This record gives sequence, C-alpha cells and structure tokens, in this order.
Amino acid sequence: MLMLQISSLLVLILLPASVIAQSPEKVSLGARTLLPAPVWVIGSYDAEGKPNMMTASWVGICCSNPPCVTISLRKATYTYGNIMKRMAYTVNIPSADFAGEANYYGSVSGRDVDKLAKTGQTAVKSALVDAPYLKEFPLVAECKVIHTYEAGSHTLFIGQIMDVKADPSVLNDRNVLVPEKLDPFFYVPGPGTFYRAGTPVDTSYPKK
Ligand SMILES: Cc1cc2nc3c(=O)[nH]c(=O)nc-3n(C[C@H](O)[C@H](O)[C@H](O)COP(=O)(O)O)c2cc1C
Repeated sequence: MLMLQISSLLVLILLPASVIAQSPEKVSLGARTLLPAPVWVIGSYDAEGKPNMMTASWVGICCSNPPCVTISLRKATYTYGNIMKRMAYTVNIPSADFAGEANYYGSVSGRDVDKLAKTGQTAVKSALVDAPYLKEFPLVAECKVIHTYEAGSHTLFIGQIMDVKADPSVLNDRNVLVPEKLDPFFYVPGPGTFYRAGTPVDTSYPKK
C-alpha cells in the first residue's frame, strides 16, 4: 500500500503540469468534427459552363502570403468535379438574411437541379478566375487552385485569392468592412444549427 502511494507521488512529480491538470468537468464528445465553422457558398462552372453554388463549412483562411483559403469537398459533390476541371472557385459570404439560400445550396446537387434558377440569384462571371460569384452576397473572394490534398473523405483545395470584392453596403466611407452590416453567421455541427456572429466582444486583458 505504502509502495503504491510512493509510486503515485513519483508519477505526479515526474508528469508535466499540462498532463496532470486534466479538467474533470469536461465531457469527451469523441473524435468528431464538432467545431463551430464558417458558412461559405462556393461558386463554380460545370463542363457546359452552367454556374453552380454549393455550401461548405469545412473551410478557412490558410495562408497570408500568398493570400489563400482552403475548402474541403467530398468527391461526390458536383462542385468537386467542376473545380477539378476549371481549377478555380469563388467564396461567397452570405449575410444572415441569405441563410435560407445558403442552406438550400447545401442541400441539393447542381447535378440534379439548376439551383440558381430556383433561388433567382445572379451568377456573375469573374474576370480573374474561371468561376462565377454571386451578385447578391455581400462579400466574395475569387480563387485560383494552387494545391489539392487528399485528406480522406474530403479533398482539400487551396485557392489563392486573386481579389476580394465587397458590396458598398457592407463598407464604411474608408472602404473598411463593417461586421454588423456584413452580418455573417456560422454553423454548429452537432445540433446542426446556424448562428449569427453577434456583437463585438471585449478582448481587454485583464478585463476592465
Ligand atoms: C452548412 C453546410 C455545410 C456544408 N459543408 C460542406 C463541406 O464543407 N464540404 C462538402 O463536401 N459538403 C458540405 N456540405 C454539403 C454540400 O453542400 C452538399 O452535398 C451539396 O448538395 C453539394 O452541392 P453540389 O453537388 O451542387 O456541389 C455542407 C452543407 C451544409 C448545409
């Protein structure tokens, strides 16, 4: 018994603090993609030049110089084949007003339906990359694919941003984005719900 207590004490002394300080109040949810994520709508052209939009949340900014974003697509999506052929896509950021359209673009395939004919939204041909962007969404990035990576169920496309275009309605008089006007929202896997980004937070430390 005494030996056991001594060895437990030794383990505690030898282990780094980060290992010892396991938080007993946290509940393991398993090895799953349960992290709140952005909601982007990806624009592409199919082989016939028909514009298509699909929603993607497994996405993010991945490099500052060159400015790059990554999107992660299942091969089964129509968009995957489109981007593989054209090596270009656009990222379209919806404001919360367009949550319905964004969810729709993520629930049916352009292989089966003309999604833009259904929503009545407008595809604009990019002058910089071989992909369309959405006129109605307030912020878009035009991307040229510079790398692909097979991650498993999803293929990562790293796109170099050739330009970002914003609707004047989401900018101030110095052409700086006004988050409240952009009104972006995010997706929470698990509950599968969408939330507004909300109000600015106080980042002062220590708190005032
Ligand atoms: C909020 C949301 C996020 C999604 N994120 C992704 C994603 O990151 N990658 C992916 O392959 N599919 C994602 N999907 C599913 C595709 O959008 C869906 O399969 C779509 O029908 C594909 O369209 P397409 O076949 O016209 O390309 C998401 C769907 C929703 C609603």
